[in-house]
Amino acid sequence: MKILVIHGPNLQLLGVRNPEVYGSVDLDTINQQLRAIAAENQSSIDVHQSNHEGEIVDTIGRSRGEYSGILINPAAYTHTSVAIRDAVEAAQIPTVEVHLSNIYARESFRQHSLIAPVCVGQISGFGPQSYEYGLKALLGHLSA
Ligand code: DQA
Repeated sequence: MKILVIHGPNLQLLGVRNPEVYGSVDLDTINQQLRAIAAENQSSIDVHQSNHEGEIVDTIGRSRGEYSGILINPAAYTHTSVAIRDAVEAAQIPTVEVHLSNIYARESFRQHSLIAPVCVGQISGFGPQSYEYGLKALLGHLSA
């Protein structure tokens, strides 16, 4: 199975950005761990990081027919982007939303996700492991 992994805005700064909130592991390390998990499950990942809403919408729009599932951390767009929500809904590809931090334990503006209702599920609050749990949950969902 081919999985599309999407990292939203500012996640290229992981490891140096607010380490007390997001930890000290960088994005390359997370991507390597995801590649290893995918390989263990006879699957592969393509990774896309973007700081631009329209680019994320375009990437999701092109994913139909290409990917079995999407793992996405929409970052700040989680809380604002009707366009990304509509793209996920239109793609009709099972999608899992992940967050490093527990968005429900943070500022009120982070406590609502526009994307989660069109996803299979959401994992939030386990640091870099949110991605690992999310990928495993997505692969499990796809093979069920
Ligand atoms: C985040 C949570 C968002 O509120 C924030 O804007 C991020 C990262 C997380 O992974 O915890 O950039 O998605």
